[in-house]
Amino acid sequence: MFRQHCAICHGPEGEGRTLPDGKVVPNMREGQLKFRTEAEIYKQLSEGGNGMTPFRDQLTKRELDLMTKFIHDELRR
Ligand code: HEC
Repeated sequence: MFRQHCAICHGPEGEGRTLPDGKVVPNMREGQLKFRTEAEIYKQLSEGGNGMTPFRDQLTKRELDLMTKFIHDELRR
């Protein structure tokens, strides 16, 4: 699911990249993480913001929950 929806901007491993329009997408694995709690990550996914598309209309609540858990538990340690 990550590869399908998120990799275009975040890179296949969530490592971040610079988009063609020059927008820098942050590395999700390390460095300064803006959002740390599950609630904050969920909000970013659902509402987007600052260059990221909102996913509340593209993913179900269950999928958003799964993605949130994935980022919180797998990518950030
Ligand atoms: C259109 C490009 C784009 C897509 C698609 C996208 N993102 Fe993002 N994402 C961004 C940008 C740009 C930021 C930086 C936002 C900011 O600085 O506030 C970001 C920030 C984030 C953050 C916060 C990182 C931090 O600093 O804590 C998370 C988590 C995240 N994205 C997860 C996802 C997930 C999961 C998906 C797929 C469901 C996704 N993104 C899809 C562009 C994208």
